[in-house]
Amino acid sequence: MKVRDLQHAVLPRSSAEEQSRQGAVVALRRFLNRHVRPRNVAVFDTEAAPAFAAAHGRQPQSPTEIQQAFLMSPSYRLWSATNRAAQEMIWVSVGEPIYRDLDRMTEAARDLAATPGKLGSLALDPTYDPSPEVAGVDIHLQPGGYAMDRGDNDIVAGALYELGGNVFSFGQGIGRGDSKAGVVLRLLDEHFGGVRPKRILDIGCSAGAASAAYAANDPEAEVHAIDIGAGMLRYAHARAESLGVGVHFHQMDASALTFEDDSFDLVVSHNLMHEIGAEKRRAMLREARRVVRPGGIVIHQDIAIRGLPTLVQQVERDWDTHFNGEAHWNTYQNADLVADMTAAGFTEAEIVEHDLPAIHGANRWYAISATKPA
Ligand SMILES: C[S@@+](CC[C@H](N)C(=O)[O-])C[C@H]1O[C@@H](n2cnc3c(N)ncnc32)[C@H](O)[C@@H]1O
Repeated sequence: MKVRDLQHAVLPRSSAEEQSRQGAVVALRRFLNRHVRPRNVAVFDTEAAPAFAAAHGRQPQSPTEIQQAFLMSPSYRLWSATNRAAQEMIWVSVGEPIYRDLDRMTEAARDLAATPGKLGSLALDPTYDPSPEVAGVDIHLQPGGYAMDRGDNDIVAGALYELGGNVFSFGQGIGRGDSKAGVVLRLLDEHFGGVRPKRILDIGCSAGAASAAYAANDPEAEVHAIDIGAGMLRYAHARAESLGVGVHFHQMDASALTFEDDSFDLVVSHNLMHEIGAEKRRAMLREARRVVRPGGIVIHQDIAIRGLPTLVQQVERDWDTHFNGEAHWNTYQNADLVADMTAAGFTEAEIVEHDLPAIHGANRWYAISATKPA
C-alpha cells in the first residue's frame, strides 16, 4: 500500500502484518473496481435482462424491476457479495490496529487537547442528541456509525473514519492537502477569481481532514468545523493540533447552526449531502446561506454519482443504498439540488453546478456553488 503522506500523533500505528492485511483489502477493492464492476452494465444485457424476461415474459422497466433483474445475474451477485465482503474487511483491517493502539492514541489526544498553547478549540455539546437518521445507521458499514461516542475521551469514530478512509481510497489517505479541499481551493482560484476567504465554515467535517487543509492553506484564516459526533470531533481536534493547524471544532447539527447570520466568507460541505435525508439537506443548505456574508461563497462538494444517462447505470450505481448502509445515497443521486439551493434563498443566476477533476487520479467530484449577493 502506498505510504501515507501525512503522519500525526493520533493516527493509529499499524504493525507490518496489519499493513499487509490493509494492503490486501486495497488490492481486492482496486481489482473489483477496475476489472469487475465495469462489467456490470454489460452483464445486465447478457444475464440479468434475459433472466428477468424468461421469468416474466417481458423486459424489466422500473428501477425496482431492474434491480430484481440484476439480482438474477450470477455474475452481478458474485460481484455484489464480494464487494460487500471487501467493505466489511476494511473495518476489520483498521479496527485491529485502532483497538490495539488505542491507549497511546487516547493519551496523545488528551495531551494535545490539554496543551496550553492550543491553536484551535473543541466545543462539545453534551445535550446534543445526534441526528437519528445518521446516528441510527452504520453508514458505509463503519462500526458504530458516525455518531459513536463511548464516553469521555473516546476518539474511535474519528480513527475509524481516517484509517478506514485511507483503505477505502486505495491507500491515498487524507493528507494535509486533502484532495476534496484541494479541489475547492482550486475552484476558488479558477472560478472565483482567487478569493482568499478569512472566515471559513466546514459542515460535516468528520475527522477534520478538509478543515485542517483549509487552515494549513492559509494560517491567517479562522476555520470552524462542525459535526454531529463527539468521537469524531475529539479525534479531529487532536489531529489538527498535532498537525500544527488551528481549527475550531463544534458539535452541532448542520440543520440548526448556532453561528450568527452573515458571519463567514466561505461555507463548504464535503461529501455531506449524500449522507443526509432530503429535509435535513434542505435545512443545511438554508443554514449555509444564512451564515455566509453578503458577497461570500457557499460550495457543497460531493460524489459524482448524479446525472447518469441510463436507468440501468443509475440502478447499478445505487448498490450502496441497498448493501452498504448508505441510506441517503439514492435520495442524493436523484435530488434537484438547484431547486433546493433556490429554496434556500439563492437565485438560479447565482447557482453553478461543477464537474471537477480530482487533484490526483482519474476521479471526479460534483459541486454546487453560489455567491450571496453583496
Ligand atoms: C462522509 S462524511 C464526510 C466527512 C468530511 N467532510 C470528508 O469529506 O472527509 C459525512 C459527515 O457528516 C456528518 N453529518 C451527518 N449528518 C450531519 C448533520 N446533520 N450535521 C452535521 N454533521 C453531520 C457525519 O457525522 C460525517 O462525519
